[in-house]
Order: sequence, then C-alpha cells, then structure tokens
Amino acid sequence: MKYNQVIRLNSGATIPIMGFGTYSAQNDREETKQAVQMALKMGYRHFDTAKIYGSEPAVGEALTRAIQSQMIDREDIFLTSKLWSSDHHDPVSALHQTLETLGMEYVDMYLVHWPVKLKPWATYAVPNEDDFERLDLETTWVGMEKCLDMGLCRSIGVSNFSTKKIQRLLDFASVPPAVNQVEMHPMWRQTKLREFCGDHKIHISAYSPIGGPGNSWGSTAVVNHPIIQSIAHKHRATAAQVALRWGLSKDSSVIAKSFNKGRMKENIGAVDLRLDDRDLRDIERMEEWKIMRGEFFVNETTSPYRTIEDLWDDEI
Ligand SMILES: NC(=O)c1ccc[n+]([C@@H]2O[C@H](COP(=O)([O-])OP(=O)(O)OC[C@H]3O[C@@H](n4cnc5c(N)ncnc54)[C@H](OP(=O)(O)O)[C@@H]3O)[C@@H](O)[C@H]2O)c1
Repeated sequence: MKYNQVIRLNSGATIPIMGFGTYSAQNDREETKQAVQMALKMGYRHFDTAKIYGSEPAVGEALTRAIQSQMIDREDIFLTSKLWSSDHHDPVSALHQTLETLGMEYVDMYLVHWPVKLKPWATYAVPNEDDFERLDLETTWVGMEKCLDMGLCRSIGVSNFSTKKIQRLLDFASVPPAVNQVEMHPMWRQTKLREFCGDHKIHISAYSPIGGPGNSWGSTAVVNHPIIQSIAHKHRATAAQVALRWGLSKDSSVIAKSFNKGRMKENIGAVDLRLDDRDLRDIERMEEWKIMRGEFFVNETTSPYRTIEDLWDDEI
C-alpha cells in the first residue's frame, strides 16, 4: 500500500510517511480509541501522541488490542510520544511512565516536546510564571540518550526546535536527533529549517499539516486559500489533500489529525495525488503565518524566552 511508504531515519529505523495525530481538546478516551482502531483498519501505521495530550491511554489501549488480536504486529507500528517540559529533569522516569500508560515495552520515537524546562510539578499545558527553569539541554539530552541505551525507545528526537537550537544540540550530542517535529504546511513552509535538517540528516515531521482547521489554535487559512483551492480543483482533489501532498513532496512525514472516518480516508488519499511543478511554484508564493507561536512559553520575568522571537531564534 502506497500510504505505508517509509523514510529511513539517521537512527536506522524507518518512519511511515502518513502519521495519525491524536491530540484533541475534548480528549475523550472512547472517541480516541475508536479513531485509532479505525485508522489502523484504514492502513495508518504511524501514531503520534504525547504525555501532555492525555491521549496515551486511549492510543495504547487501541494498539494493544489490535496487537493482541493479531490484527497487526508491534513491529509494523511506528509510535511516537513526547517528553513534557516538566520532565526534563528525568527523561528515563518520564518514559517509563509513558510506557506504563501506553501498555508498551518501547516507543519508536521519543521527542523532547519543546525547548522549555519547567518545574516538576508543572504538568499542565500552559505554565505559570513561577514554573520556569533554565533550559539545560545537555542534561536533558543525556537523559534522552539513556532512554535509547535502555531500549525504552528506538529513536530520539526533538520538536519545536529552531535551526539554532538544533545546532547547539549537535555540538554536544553523542546521538543526533533523528527527527524534528515542527509545524509545517503550505503557509509555514520551514524553508531554512528543511535545508538545515536535510544537511544534517534530520527528518522533519510536519504537524498541523493542513493548518489545523477547527482547532482552538488552528486556522482555516490553508484549506480556504484560493491557491490551494484552485490546485485542488485542477486535480479533482480536496484542499486538505493538496496541503498534505505538499508536505510529503518535501520528504517530510505528515501528522494529520482527524477522528472522522471520511476525513481520515480523504487524508490518506493524499498519497495518490501528484502535484506538478507549477503547483509547487504557486504554493511558494503563498503568504506565510505560523499558527502555533508558543506564547505560553514566553514572559518577561522567569522564562528564558522574553519574546516569541527569542523562543524561535528569530525564525518566525
Ligand atoms: N509537536 C507539537 O508541538 C505538536 C503541536 C500540534 C500538533 N501536533 C501533532 O500533530 C497532530 C496534527 O496537528 P493538528 O491537529 O494541529 O493539525 P491538522 O491535522 O492540520 O488539523 C486537524 C484539524 O483539522 C480537521 N481536519 C482533519 N482532516 C480534515 C480534512 N480533510 N478536511 C477538513 N478538516 C480536516 C480535524 O477535525 P476532525 O477531527 O473533525 O476531522 C481537526 O480539527 C496533532 O494531533 C498532534 O498529534 C504536535
């Protein structure tokens, strides 16, 4: 099946190009579980979760059930989870906890969710002013490498890292990150980061690949954009498929979230779409606007990031 195409990572593992996102504001365990079960039947093999999403129990339950019923082998699934910012002081314990919640022996990918370190008690998404600590990436990364050594994960990586932060990490890392998971879609194209990561063999996984329409922080700008709509019309495809295919055309994997059967099918159908050079050139002309700006990690007193530009090292 074409949508089970994989890309080889610098860790030697392979990542399926079509990812399935599991963050939803409602975080309804039954709904998430059913969506993952449906996704598995449809052919999705790459699942994205995180401690902070609260979706680990549902994802773990759905995958475990599918494995136990011999619908699928564990080896055929690519499962990603992420280290929350309040766990930077102890990635090994955090991953043990994640594995227990998932009911899994290992995850395929463990990512540092944000380049932000919070006090251990700050286990919520939006920190308070007194929750911040100085980011000590070296110590965090040693913990991530230990997770790998212990076999708790097959690859390690980062998320929401600028080129500058990746460079800093590469300066001391014994194991380079295999993935940087970042926002990427036709209106936030990550040209500089893609080039830098390409040079260092770091795979980019695109989150919000269709712009997150309907999410509280998302935007319909991508799917409603006249350029995307006209390309979709030309190929008898949908705007979401054009956005996803654009991400795939950059050798990224895409992590789309839909818990709706029709849209899940639509999204996986992006693999069959071919964009031509003219489409790709037209997309390059689209105005850019980052949706996930990370304001909640910025303040003028306690955060190491005084401004949004600091957080993204002016790559915003
Ligand atoms: N690393 C990070 O910091 C980070 C940040 C954000 C997200 N992520 C990951 O990336 C995943 C996806 O990101 P996202 O949810 O922001 O963005 P997205 O996949 O671009 O958009 C999801 C939204 O679009 C809707 N949708 C899905 N397919 C559609 C289609 N074909 N047509 C129209 N609407 C459609 C979904 O609603 P329905 O469910 O109703 O279809 C949902 O509201 C998340 O679930 C999470 O796993 C990671």
